[in-house]
Amino acid sequence: MEPWRAQVTTGLTGRVVEIGFGSGLNVEHYPSEVEVVLAVEPAATARRLAEGRIAAASVPIVHVGMDGQAIPLDDASCDSALATFTLCTIPNVHRALKELKRVLRPGSSFHFLEHGLSPDASVARWQRRLDPIQGRLADGCHLTREPLALLRDAGFVIQWSEQRYARGPKPWSYFTVGVAMTPT
Ligand SMILES: C[S@@+](CC[C@H](N)C(=O)[O-])C[C@H]1O[C@@H](n2cnc3c(N)ncnc32)[C@H](O)[C@@H]1O
Repeated sequence: MEPWRAQVTTGLTGRVVEIGFGSGLNVEHYPSEVEVVLAVEPAATARRLAEGRIAAASVPIVHVGMDGQAIPLDDASCDSALATFTLCTIPNVHRALKELKRVLRPGSSFHFLEHGLSPDASVARWQRRLDPIQGRLADGCHLTREPLALLRDAGFVIQWSEQRYARGPKPWSYFTVGVAMTPT
């Protein structure tokens, strides 16, 4: 996963909001241009696991909230945003993207790395079959979301993106990485 995390964090700058911060697996990849990371994470276990990484981080990391669907930050108060393997899990992903757009300055970047629906019909068929089980076993995670379509629907402009299979079973490993901009 490390090359993917290195790729998605490249270009983050200033005040960064990260939704679905988890146990802080992106921390070691934040570039030096990052001034502070504002972490949004509901799971107490993940927050506890993140403590060591936060303590060792070279940038300040502040836990600001529990829910990407209602981010407790002012409008246009962030310079960039990050989410990795999180848009698959947030119950109302449309609301979360609307919130990200609200807290980001116009013309700023949202960096994303997600798994999602495969373009291969046979894999997609399995993803649709497995989706209900995945949701129950993996904390609400969906296999069938399409990150680029979700971002476009929310009004983001895709600056760049790449989609390909990572290592691992195909229903879980069709990854989308990229950067989307808020309109100016
Ligand atoms: C698969 S984990 C990914 C964690 C981390 N970003 C990573 O790359 O390892 C999904 C994360 O989204 C978090 N999450 C679930 N619902 C959320 C919500 N409504 N708002 C923000 N984060 C949420 C989960 O607690 C979990 O930490």
